[in-house]
Amino acid sequence: MTKLNVGIIGCGNISGIYFKTSKLFDVYDIVACADLDLERAKKRAEEFDIPNAYTTDELLADQSIDLVINLTIPAVHAKVALAALESGKHVYGEKPLAVTREEGQQVLRVAKEKGLMVGNAPDTFLGAGLQTSRKLIDDGWIGEPISVTAFMMNHGHEGWHPDPDFYYQKGGGPMFDMGPYYLTALVSLMGPVKRVTGTTNITFPERTITSKQKYGQKIQVQTPTQINGVLDFESGAVGSIITSFDTWHHKLPNIEIHGTEGSLSVPDPNNFGGPVYVRRRDHDSWSEMPLTHGFSENSRGLGVADMAAAILKGETPRANGDLSYHVLELMHGFHDASDTNRHYELTSKCEQPPMLPVGINQDNFSDLIKF
Ligand SMILES: NC(=O)c1ccc[n+]([C@@H]2O[C@H](COP(=O)([O-])OP(=O)(O)OC[C@H]3O[C@@H](n4cnc5c(N)ncnc54)[C@H](O)[C@@H]3O)[C@@H](O)[C@H]2O)c1
Repeated sequence: MTKLNVGIIGCGNISGIYFKTSKLFDVYDIVACADLDLERAKKRAEEFDIPNAYTTDELLADQSIDLVINLTIPAVHAKVALAALESGKHVYGEKPLAVTREEGQQVLRVAKEKGLMVGNAPDTFLGAGLQTSRKLIDDGWIGEPISVTAFMMNHGHEGWHPDPDFYYQKGGGPMFDMGPYYLTALVSLMGPVKRVTGTTNITFPERTITSKQKYGQKIQVQTPTQINGVLDFESGAVGSIITSFDTWHHKLPNIEIHGTEGSLSVPDPNNFGGPVYVRRRDHDSWSEMPLTHGFSENSRGLGVADMAAAILKGETPRANGDLSYHVLELMHGFHDASDTNRHYELTSKCEQPPMLPVGINQDNFSDLIKF
């Protein structure tokens, strides 16, 4: 087999970029799509020239499909992933892996029992900006990484989103919404984490929607909107992360990693590109570093391509289930630590995913199978 046949379940907002980028990669083809709303699936199939628009059950019953991309809403991520695995298909999902740790563990357990792979977004850590950052660390530009700071702060989404309630319900909040990008980047750059602690707050228990559709309606906030966390990495490095929907303005960087020989400024982990800056101990100023890797543009789906290559080669994908479960556990860990007044010890282990080889791009992606 030189290519996988892939089906998408969930044809909403984010699906467009997955349909679009699939055409860039020569290791899989999207052969079918499905949605609870069959009309949505039909529309996407027509728009992107996909041979089959199915109900979910029809897609799962199609024996020619090797892998399902699960782009449904977080509340049903685990349910859809389990159905895909039960039907004998590998599954790659949008973030998060699941809402609860128990559901996440179940997905990994069933995949293991069936000898199938689980992959999960985000895959921005495979983009040019974060892979260049990883190479600079691995090549010793900042010496041994000793600390990291990460900031994702804004004032939430009720000012623009037409239906923002879900951001303030359980499973929402800034950590579950944006934490996967930041924490996956940190694990990719610094390795896994052994314990965390945190303080959380619901600063504004009631919020007023100011976007057009529901203007003036109130939201009762059910989940923390300010999470200040501390991480101890297995390597011995320490980190701080703030995710906030309570902040009007700030001038803090996305991610900075500080090492024994210098510092690295890492680009926005929600995007694929740069810029990446380094300032070594004896430098007078920061230097923008050339990007060493491909995929600077929005390449959501790169994780699926890497997963397809890994399956064809008999290896573990970079954006794999163990990594996404570790990230899910981290997000819960900050909240649990605050609720219980103590550190949260991680129970999950994951490998630091290997860097993509330099020189791999959309034109030669199948070469990844040879590395
Ligand atoms: N929209 C974005 O900008 C964005 C960005 C990054 C990640 N994501 C992630 O992508 C996922 C989807 O987000 P979205 O914005 O596309 O949501 P959406 O609501 O626009 O689309 C979700 C689709 O899934 C379908 N669906 C729901 N339950 C289903 C089920 N049980 N079986 C089959 N289909 C089902 C819905 O009918 C809908 O068409 C979420 O996990 C989100 O966190 C979204």
